[in-house]
Amino acid sequence: MEKTLRFDSLLVHGGLEAGPAGATSVPVVQSSSFAYATAEALEDVFRGRAVGQVYTRLGNPTTEALERRLALLEGGGAAIATASGMAAITTTVMTIVRAGDEILASSSLFGGTFSLFRDTLSTFGVTVRFVDPLDLDGFSASVNERTRLLFVETIGNPKLDVPDIPKLAEIAHQAGLPLVVDATVTTPYLANGAVLGADIVIHSTSMYINGPGTSIGGVIIDRGVFNWSGPQFPHFEQFHKKYRAFAFTARARKLVHKDVGACAAPFNSFLLTEGIQTLALRMDRHCGNALALARFLKGHPKVAWVNYPGLDDSPQHEVASRLYGTRYGGLLTFGTGDKGSAFRAINGLNMAKNLANIGDAKTLVIHPASTICADYPAADKALMGVTEDLIRVSVGIEDPDDIIEDFKRALDAL
Ligand SMILES: Cc1ncc(COP(=O)(O)O)c(C=O)c1O
Repeated sequence: MEKTLRFDSLLVHGGLEAGPAGATSVPVVQSSSFAYATAEALEDVFRGRAVGQVYTRLGNPTTEALERRLALLEGGGAAIATASGMAAITTTVMTIVRAGDEILASSSLFGGTFSLFRDTLSTFGVTVRFVDPLDLDGFSASVNERTRLLFVETIGNPKLDVPDIPKLAEIAHQAGLPLVVDATVTTPYLANGAVLGADIVIHSTSMYINGPGTSIGGVIIDRGVFNWSGPQFPHFEQFHKKYRAFAFTARARKLVHKDVGACAAPFNSFLLTEGIQTLALRMDRHCGNALALARFLKGHPKVAWVNYPGLDDSPQHEVASRLYGTRYGGLLTFGTGDKGSAFRAINGLNMAKNLANIGDAKTLVIHPASTICADYPAADKALMGVTEDLIRVSVGIEDPDDIIEDFKRALDAL
């Protein structure tokens, strides 16, 4: 059935197997480990001669159902659900790079990813080169013999720039390298990995995939389209021989994911399989509300600037429309001129919540310069487009008139 279902139907039915007593929700298998009747049967599972679960750090039936659904939504492949979006990114890069290797990454990244790449990975001998993701020639010119992967966000958080992912995929593939895409902001609904040409797609499922903001999670989807037999990947040789196109997933599952231990909790996987069912409906509303709020903010006298790829005069509008059609995501940023007025604007909001998250059903705001990016030097903040007056808004699915009234009240009082 799944082969013929369209995206919105896969959100509801994808990966679902009949549950006990005809249950139509994914059963929560809240068990650390799984028993076998004989020593021979458990050996067979350990050696991969039989299919089965062993221990929830390695795999779990509830999590597997989520993984099947997410892989289908990305246009096919294999998925590994993780404890968080950061765990998905860490597991992915640790699977691909070794000490001495380099990553070529977008300079416009979520703060946590930037910190992982700049501060943590460098202590393990991995160098990350940051390049403006809109500068395709710069990306191309920065590939060298040590580069092992290209990493980019579909829409940079919080810079909201929109890289041309299919062109970056071409650059990566010409160099024999995989393109890893963090698609948290766009979700598979705006355009999936198959459409964009990404080899590995990562989501923080804590955001739009979850919906009401109830759990932290992440996922890595290996589309099974990259050839891991190239000279840059001798460490994939044994996995490529046996698992061919899915050598990445095999190496991740059998080594890094198993050893790092950042597995998804079964109850979170259950919440995610529930939440994701309404993704298409919510994303339509997030995008529509974000456009309405962006247009309102543009016309408000206390607003110095607005950044939203859905605005006709946004420099990102053309690429965003080509890649994502008429939906431009639920994130926008705007400035009020200085930090003091930005704080007063946030403090004046009643309905929108001031917190560090995006993609919740509720409208959320944050002042990144004093929170997520507080410890970054000015040059890094500039690279990420974080100015002192910037307010990031993750526009929720409430009535758009209520959202606009909330911002109007706060801004009128400045
Ligand atoms: C684009 C993006 N990627 C990854 C992450 C990290 O996800 P998590 O908080 O689930 O670890 C975030 C978190 O905000 C994000 O915005």
